[in-house]
This record gives sequence, C-alpha cells and structure tokens, in this order.
Amino acid sequence: TERTLVLIKPDGVARGYVGEILARIERKGLTIAAMELRTASTDVAATHYAEHEGKPFYPGLLEFITSGPLVAAVLEGPRAIAAFRQIAGGTDPVERAVPGTIRADLALDGGQNLVHGSDSIESAEREIALWFPVLAQR
Ligand code: GTP
Ligand code: MG
Repeated sequence: TERTLVLIKPDGVARGYVGEILARIERKGLTIAAMELRTASTDVAATHYAEHEGKPFYPGLLEFITSGPLVAAVLEGPRAIAAFRQIAGGTDPVERAVPGTIRADLALDGGQNLVHGSDSIESAEREIALWFPVLAQR
C-alpha cells in the first residue's frame, strides 16, 4: 500500500466542494488515514511548494494557499499517489482537461484548481512529514 498527501485547497472549501471531492476519493476506493481542516501558515505553504520558489506564480500561490481554511489529508491505498492524481486531473482544468476529473469538472483556473496531490513517493514522504508529523514517524 502507498500513502499520498492531499489538500482540498481554500477554493474547494470556500466553494463548498469538500463533500463532493471526498465522495470522489471514497468512490475511487482510497482510504482516508488522516484528515484535518486548517489554515496553512506562510512557513508551511512555502515549504510545501518549495520546488516552485522563484517562478512567476509563486507569490500568488502562497497567498492563495494561505488565504483560508483548507483540508489536509493522508490517503492510503495501492498506487494511491497516481490514483489520486488521476481523479484530480491535470494542473490546468481547461487545457487538455479530461472530463470526469475533479479539476476538469469543477474548476476553471490554472492556479485555483481545488486540489493538490503528492507527485512521487519522495514528495509524499516529505509532505506527510510536513502536514502530519505524528503520522510520518510510523
Ligand atoms: P499541485 O498538486 O497543487 O502541486 O498541482 P500540480 O502538481 O498539478 O502542479 P504543479 O506542482 O506544477 O503546480 C503547483 C500549483 O501551482 C498548481 O496546482 C497551481 O495551483 C499553481 N500553478 C502551477 N502552474 C501555474 C501557472 O502557470 N499559473 C498559476 N497561476 N498557477 C500555477
Ligand atoms: Mg505539484
């Protein structure tokens, strides 16, 4: 089994899509191992998105991700990392978007795209340690 760190970003919470997104996660068969509503500090957001430091959209990304409550969760299941990214859809919810994915169905903006999912085993370990330090020790 595998674990992945998922965020329902502040736009997802503000637009009332927490239930819809969790339903899609559950329908896929992924297990929720940990979940919490919280507002990210700039420190946590900057560490989470450190790979994008210096890119033109980075300041806006930090502002957006800290703008209000988000849902942080650890999902578990066989190939959980790829499975969640498959149901999330591509970064841009319009360009080459696959209908049936969370982003293609529910989002319009390439920045405010509702969800985050870890993109590799290394990222998942790093992000779980950042958002759920207690879980990461196991
Ligand atoms: P995450 O799961 O959030 O990491 O998305 P991703 O893996 O599909 O995309 P990536 O890691 O490349 O980018 C991280 C986030 O930065 C995206 O989800 C967007 O919110 C934002 N982002 C990436 N590229 C752009 C861009 O070109 N413009 C804007 N405004 N935001 C971007
Ligand atoms: Mg990413």
